[in-house]
Amino acid sequence: DTIQLQIKDLSGFLSEEDILKQSAQAAACNQALHNGSREGNDFLGWVDLPSSITDQVLREIEDAATVLRTHCDAVVVVGIGGSYLGARAVIDALSSSFDWLQEKEDRKNPVILYAGNNISEDYLYELMRYLNDKRFGIINISKSGTTTEPAIAFRLLKDQLEEKVGKEEARKRIVAITDASKGALRTLADTEGYKTFVIPDNVGGRYSVLTPVGLLPIAVAGIDIRKLVAGAVEIEKATVPSTSFDYNLPAIYAVIRNELYKRGKKIEILVNYHPKLHFLAEWWKQLYGESEGKENVGIFPAAVDFTTDLHSMGQWIQEGERTIFETVITIGEANEKVQIPHDDKDLDGLNYLEGKRVDEVNKMAELGTRIAHVDGGVPNLTIEIPKLNEKYIGQLIYFFEKACGISGYLLGINPFDQPGVEAYKKNMFALLEKPGFEEATKAIKARL
Ligand code: PA5
Repeated sequence: DTIQLQIKDLSGFLSEEDILKQSAQAAACNQALHNGSREGNDFLGWVDLPSSITDQVLREIEDAATVLRTHCDAVVVVGIGGSYLGARAVIDALSSSFDWLQEKEDRKNPVILYAGNNISEDYLYELMRYLNDKRFGIINISKSGTTTEPAIAFRLLKDQLEEKVGKEEARKRIVAITDASKGALRTLADTEGYKTFVIPDNVGGRYSVLTPVGLLPIAVAGIDIRKLVAGAVEIEKATVPSTSFDYNLPAIYAVIRNELYKRGKKIEILVNYHPKLHFLAEWWKQLYGESEGKENVGIFPAAVDFTTDLHSMGQWIQEGERTIFETVITIGEANEKVQIPHDDKDLDGLNYLEGKRVDEVNKMAELGTRIAHVDGGVPNLTIEIPKLNEKYIGQLIYFFEKACGISGYLLGINPFDQPGVEAYKKNMFALLEKPGFEEATKAIKARL
């Protein structure tokens, strides 16, 4: 009853021997994550994070979630990148797809909405219009406390909320998650008297889903954060440095992707067969893209939702340039049961599927696709979880985090920095004539 890795569909591309040859290196990288002996060692707080979360911390998060759940029918999670994607990945994966469309009396949980992850004026206008007659609250998340996208969204939403319910009630419905002492959001939250949670210094944004950054919105959405954390703890324990390489699944995955990369497979496509996993892939893309894409190296992490994208990207994957491999997330058993009914006239020709569960059809699509893609020259590896629930999503989160750390070290880069994300900000601030950017403003204007 745990996550599994199936590697048999790699056989034509990578032998077991090729993988085993790297076992000592991978073990050394795993060791480095635990003893902090390599670059980026000031950002290793996530390594033993799951097992260090205390009952008291969980209770504080659950209590804050209860306050928001009691006072709000909708909660807006304001944040971008690592301050947003983890929560959305878990909430989407574990919530009913259509609950949020129910009347509020029929809903068990508040509607969770997102802002501050773009600067679209129409998006913000439409969000505020939707919220106008709703009892809403805000979770404002920013580690640095100075990121422009969430800062703009928060200023607008805070104004709207205070105007609607007054400062006193607004204060009850706003929670800030930020650094312990630095940044504009810390000053703002302390001045306004908001409930706050701290993002630990040594946990980077993309590794922060199991801190209050992810856990508070996830708890507000009605998801059991204790089970989620327990799942992560299982994989943390199963991947300590004393674990032999053969049983260390994240280490094996890290080796496979690096060996494929060395053999010209420059793009990894994360595949799912369930729309609820779309944002898990977005989270994964950030984790791997931001960790590994630097110094002019790194696998390009892409993602597809099947079977939807088999009718679009399927053609490219089957017959396009052979520089890709697929990592398929498969789910053993669907949570709900829907069977294909009999039809007397059989006008659609579907009676051959009569009585089958929809998931059986999905599984045959998955198997057929895997065989076709391997035949077409696309190495496939499969990550299997038995069911879609808190425990296995928790396992997947830690599996991918651990694998990413090992993979980055195998690649020879620092997986815990992101110097490249500053370049656009510098230009944007120069163009907006932000105080302090006067020289950059002159320089960029001269180029226009
Ligand atoms: O992973 C990261 O470090 C980034 O994606 C950040 O999470 C993102 O830029 C948001 O930063 P902040 O939380 O400081 O607003």
